[in-house]
Amino acid sequence: MTAPVPGPEAGTEALRERALASLTTARDRTTLLTSCVEEPDLTAQHSPLMSPLVWDLAHIGNQEELWLLRAVGGREAMRPEIDSLYDAFEHPRAARPTLPLLDPGEARAYAAEVRGRVLDLLETTTLDGSRLTEAGFAFGMIAQHEQQHDETMLITHQLRRGPQALTAPAPRRPDPAFTGPAEVLVPGGPFIMGTSTEPWALDNERPAHPREVAPFWIDTAPVTNAAYLAFIEDGGYDDPRWWAPDGWAHLRRHGITAPLFWRRDGGQWLRRHFGATEAVPADEPVLHVCWYEADAYARWAGRRLPTETEWEKAARHDPATGRSRRYPWGDADPAPEHANLGQRHLRPAPAGSYPDGQSPLGVRQLIGDVWEWTASDFLPYPGFTVFPYKEYSEVFFGPEYKVLRGGSFAVDAVACRGTFRNWDYPVRRQIFSGFRTARSARPQES
Ligand code: AVJ
Ligand code: FE
Repeated sequence: MTAPVPGPEAGTEALRERALASLTTARDRTTLLTSCVEEPDLTAQHSPLMSPLVWDLAHIGNQEELWLLRAVGGREAMRPEIDSLYDAFEHPRAARPTLPLLDPGEARAYAAEVRGRVLDLLETTTLDGSRLTEAGFAFGMIAQHEQQHDETMLITHQLRRGPQALTAPAPRRPDPAFTGPAEVLVPGGPFIMGTSTEPWALDNERPAHPREVAPFWIDTAPVTNAAYLAFIEDGGYDDPRWWAPDGWAHLRRHGITAPLFWRRDGGQWLRRHFGATEAVPADEPVLHVCWYEADAYARWAGRRLPTETEWEKAARHDPATGRSRRYPWGDADPAPEHANLGQRHLRPAPAGSYPDGQSPLGVRQLIGDVWEWTASDFLPYPGFTVFPYKEYSEVFFGPEYKVLRGGSFAVDAVACRGTFRNWDYPVRRQIFSGFRTARSARPQES
């Protein structure tokens, strides 16, 4: 939302400005998320699913040191003894509070020291020549990494008990209210999935490759709380017909009867949202559902989740030209009128919002608001190669993870685009996850 993304041919100065703006935006958010609570709330573990906030803070600095100061800059390790503490693969999240972590003051000073040196390095690095520095890739990767942890830290804030620490204005209500069709027909035929040209796209988004897609219908907007509530009231959580067998077992084992953070209070449903309790807003996209819940709702509705390929075709395919766009609205970087991104609002906007962000076929809110579960496992594209490290994507490929698309209100524009892929276990729902449904077109419809 700052400088436009320069193409591969852009001048070094434009790339430097873009990198600087992206790193600065990320750090401003990190600072807010780690200064709005007292120190005990930074070192506490608010959920076994999450790290203490102070771990995220020093891990952000440590990844930046590893990839920018050491890999790009060729510098020596600043504090080699802390590397293993902040290696996400050495210590599972649940074990992190017992490690001899840097305290909040030390973690802030370390991240700030790294950043100061990185800004000097950015001034003197030639942004071409090596694949790591080409078009400022490593700087963009590190800005995305910090923003991903800013979303992770916002999840920790949502899980934290206690009074409200963060506030933000609600998104504007769509005016006039959305009255368009409930679903949109996406024509069958070839489509180019993934990218080989987006300068800061991560390895799992590459390369661009053709896919053949059968015609399908997809929801114009994400499934709302009101629609999801109809599933609950219809006994959806008590009927094994709608559930994948593993999902049904999980539901029973954990006594799950509604989305995470929901509570029935007499005749109405309430939810805990960033330290406040509120009535579940009827027209907002449903939030904090796992893949099994999304899959069960879709089956109950006589529909299914879209595949990842269908989702991306709905989001990027321009039927007029046959070309795949960077975003549903075109190739321009996200602006506030396109999508609800970047923690500007701490909630999704009502379904049907953001007419300026719709796809050529009229599908809305594909980018921002809620991460959307797809039917697909997280797998490499044909021609995938690891870059620059296998622990970002490759070690996660396989059927245990489901793909989510489109980004949430909590993710920044730098870490969100039409090709961006997120993934998680199908039982996870502390993330800012929702979904939309689809159905295959009948022959006479296409
Ligand atoms: C892409 C969101 C699944 O948080 O595990 C952060 C992003 N990778 N640090 C995660 C990530 C390394 C990753 N997700
Ligand atoms: Fe990380």
